[in-house]
Parts: sequence; structure tokens; C-alpha cells
Amino acid sequence: MEIKKHWYKEMVVYQIWPRSFCDGNGDGIGDLTGVLSKLDYLQDLGVNAIWFSPLYCSPNADYGYDIADYRNISPEYGTLEQFRQVVQEAHKRGMRIIMDLVVNHTSDEHEWFKKGAADKNSPYHDYYFWRKGKGKNPPNNWKSVFEGGAWEYNKDLDEYYLHVFAKKQPDLNMDNPAVREEVKQIMRYWLDMGVDGFREDVITYISKAEGLPNGIPLPVGTGIEHYTVGPHLYEYLSEFRHDVLDHYDCFTVGEAPMMTPKLARTFIAENDKQVLNLMFHFQHQEADCFLTDWLHTPLSLKKMKKAFSTWQKEMYGDAWNALYIENHDHPRAVDRFGSVRYQKQSAKMLAAMYICQCGTPFIYQGQEIGMTNTTFRSLDEFKDVVTFNNAKVFAKFGIKGERFLKIANKCSREQSRTPVQWDGTENAGFTTGTPWMPVNPNYTEINVADQQKDPDSVLNFYKKLLKFRKENEIVIYGSYEEHCKDSSTLYVYSREYEGKRMLVVCSFTEKPVRFTAPDGFDLSNAELVLQNYDVLYNSNSFLTKPYEVRVYML
Ligand code: NOJ
Ligand code: CA
Repeated sequence: MEIKKHWYKEMVVYQIWPRSFCDGNGDGIGDLTGVLSKLDYLQDLGVNAIWFSPLYCSPNADYGYDIADYRNISPEYGTLEQFRQVVQEAHKRGMRIIMDLVVNHTSDEHEWFKKGAADKNSPYHDYYFWRKGKGKNPPNNWKSVFEGGAWEYNKDLDEYYLHVFAKKQPDLNMDNPAVREEVKQIMRYWLDMGVDGFREDVITYISKAEGLPNGIPLPVGTGIEHYTVGPHLYEYLSEFRHDVLDHYDCFTVGEAPMMTPKLARTFIAENDKQVLNLMFHFQHQEADCFLTDWLHTPLSLKKMKKAFSTWQKEMYGDAWNALYIENHDHPRAVDRFGSVRYQKQSAKMLAAMYICQCGTPFIYQGQEIGMTNTTFRSLDEFKDVVTFNNAKVFAKFGIKGERFLKIANKCSREQSRTPVQWDGTENAGFTTGTPWMPVNPNYTEINVADQQKDPDSVLNFYKKLLKFRKENEIVIYGSYEEHCKDSSTLYVYSREYEGKRMLVVCSFTEKPVRFTAPDGFDLSNAELVLQNYDVLYNSNSFLTKPYEVRVYML
């Protein structure tokens, strides 16, 4: 099968969660001045796109994912003028800009919501799901995935509005054609300004089942089956594609919780029915969780390998993978899938493990230096609505105080939101003021400045890895084959392209494991292109070192 080449398949994306990236004016909050000061750093790292988590005006009930104005930059982060400058400066350096498109919901402080809540006869009333209650009860039994019930009562209207996420994030009624027109206008607005595409927030939730029927009772998120890949999702995405996206040279990646490869193909297979370029699925993120990401279990490497391999196989040829191990919604990967004790080795291993697969890699800020989880000492130190909601949910099961704190330290997504550790000076060089969220105290050992000087650092490994990907089409376009499938400690796969082959061997344990090259792979004559330990001589069988990785070209 001839794979279609495209710029979005060759790019590597760096995700910026602006609040914690770099503060340029000393108020303790990351901003665009900070971003501008780091563009050279990103270019040097070798990424060629930046995805910005929301920069728009927001009351921050969900740190930007609750948008009050889709056409403006939050004053905390800068101005529209500065944003234009970011686009220009990034483009000059060969980097594209991808915006977060959050249209499943707005903020309750968005003017559409305010107008619709003030007047039942306003056209904006039907921009949202306003319903009468059932007697004294809400319209149905849905629960928010973030915060208690999914319905909030408004006394003046004697109606409830739907919020699948926080109370301050009312869901948009995408069935209303006027809402879809608004979305298209927002897309054109940013594309006309020069941005190169969108990461579409929980895009698979935008179509709700007709009649909003009751859902199967769950501790959180009751009703989820009635809006995950809802009845009109495909139709709406197709409308966005034909009316907007087709008219620009741009790219889309849709966030898709609970997505399976088969279903994904109906959206992203490269045919005339394609409506998105890529999808972020969560299957590998479930490898250390039971049912929810707030119930962590020891990592099941087999589960993780199966998730990766199934997606690699199902997409290969005529669809494309989005590769990631971290983002702003999960604790740090070193803590989850690697080892804090072997921070350096495991950060490198994890990097090669996913970036050498077929797909477009996404790197989350701080991941490139192997940032790790911090320790929150009390519930007051947390800032996220999800953590507070879980405190209530766990309390119902008798889990409180220290016991809950331990769980939150392991599971809270705030673990990935501590400020980026730029250097060893106070506050890790993130700000000259007081950081909005405490810096992880390990910044004196883990920071960009030190790693830039150390040829053996995680940062320099990432640079080498991205350069290797850029210079070798096999890493981008090669086919994928998994080996040693039964191993619960080794992840081994090969890629093949135009007569070349490569083999990736990753150990997920500190214990020595005997690795033997798969049939047909002679490593004694192969070139070792990436590794995280010195290797004296190549052989077809060896005992792995803790979290070792080796990438061979054959
Ligand atoms: C997914 C985003 O990644 C997350 O941060 C946000 O809270 C929810 N969607 C709601 O927008
Ligand atoms: Ca600032």
C-alpha cells in the first residue's frame, strides 16, 4: 500500500499549557512574552508545531477550557497583537501553530450564555440545553464528569441547563444550526489569522442523543453513553470539514475518550469520508488504571502494548496515529510508566518507545527533560475542580484525609501542571514573582539549563531522537510489527520501509531481563542508533539494564 505523504505526518508537535510554561512579566502566570522567549529553544529541540491549550479569555473554572470569548487572548496571557507575533515568529522558524478548539461547551460567562439565561425568547437560549425539571428533580439522571449532577437550576427561568463538565461549562446545543455557524466562524477567524489547525476538545461529545434519555447509573458521568459519539457527530464534523477545513491547508486532531481503532477509522481513514486527520485515543492511558484514571493500578505493560499495537496495525496504510504519553490531563509519564529512581533512563526509554512508532508525536511541556510528579501536602494546595470533585466522591466511600491525599498525589492531572523547570535559580526560572502553582522542588536536579550542557541528558536524547526521525523516513512511514508479545517487561517492535528495517527494544523494569533478537534480525551487524546505556558490543542476546532502550537500524 502506498502511504500518502503529508506535512502533518512529518511534524512533531509540542504542547504548551500556557499558564505553567514561562512567565514573561513576573506575575507568576505563564504568558505569550514567555512563549516568545522560548521559540528558539523549541526550534532547537526539533519540534515543528506548537499546540496551545486555550489562550482565550476565560474565568478559569477549568483553566481555559471554559471560554468566555473565542476571539480574544486572555489578558493574563497577553494580547491579540502578541499572539499574531507568536504566529509570525513561529512560522519564521518553521513551526506551525495549532489552537485548541473547545466547542462542546462555553463558559457560563460567555455572552451567549448570559443572554440566553436572561431571556427565554432570546435566540441564544437555544444555544444551550435548557429544560424543565421533572417535578422537583432535574430533567434526567445525568451526572457531570467533573462536578456532581449534570444539571444546574436557574430560578428566574425555572429551567435547568446541562453541563457535562463543570457547572461553569454549559454544553452547547450543536443541533442548533446557528451554533454550528458560530463554530465555523470561529474556525475561519483563527485560520485567517494564520493558524495551521486545531486540537478539538472532547469533540466526540458534541452530539447528544435525542430526548436526552436517562443513563446507566455511575459514580461520575452518568449519561456518558448518550453523548459519546452521538447520533449527529459524523454529520457535524463533515459539515465543518466541507464548509471550512477543506478551504485551508490545515490540520485537525480530535480528542476522543473511549475511542476504539475501528470506530476511529470512520472519522480518520483517508478517503472522501474523512472528517478529521487524527484522533487522540486513551487506550494506552488505561494500562495503569481500573475503570477511571482515579483508580491507579500497577502498570500492565501487556495492556499498554496491546493498545499501541492495535492502533498501529489498524491505522497503517490509510489512516494516521496521534502518538502521545503525556498531556495536561495526566500525571507525569516517568512516575506512571517508568521509574523516578531511574528518572533519566526511563524518561529516555519512554521517549523512544512512542516516538519511534508510526504517527505524529506530541510532546508535552517538561516531558523533554523528564519532569516528574510533585508532592501536594494538603488538599488546599490543589487547584483543579476534578480533584475537589473526587475528594467528595471518595469521601462517600469513606476515603478522606491522608488516604485521599495519597490517591490525589498519584492520580491528579495537576501533577502535569507544575511550572516548567527552566533552570536551577529560584522558582526554576519560570517566574521572577510568585508562581501561581508551586514549582516541583526537584528543579535543582531536573531543569533545562543543566540538561542543555549535559550531552547525556534527557533533553539531548529528545533532540537526537527527533533529528533521527526527521532524517529517516522509516521512522515516519515504516510499517510496524510487534515482537516478544508475551513479555510483561519488554516492549519490542520493528519498523520496515523501502528495504530498511529498525528494531526498538524497551525494558519496563529495573530487573535484568534476557532479550533475544527475533528470528531474522541479526543485531551483531546492525547499527545501534539510540541507546540510554553504553553498549560495548552488539549481540543478539543480552540482559537488559534498568529501563534500557536500544534502537537498531538493519
Ligand atoms: C479535555 C481537556 O483536555 C481537559 O483539560 C478539559 O478539562 C476537558 N476536556 C473539558 O474541556
Ligand atoms: Ca505573566
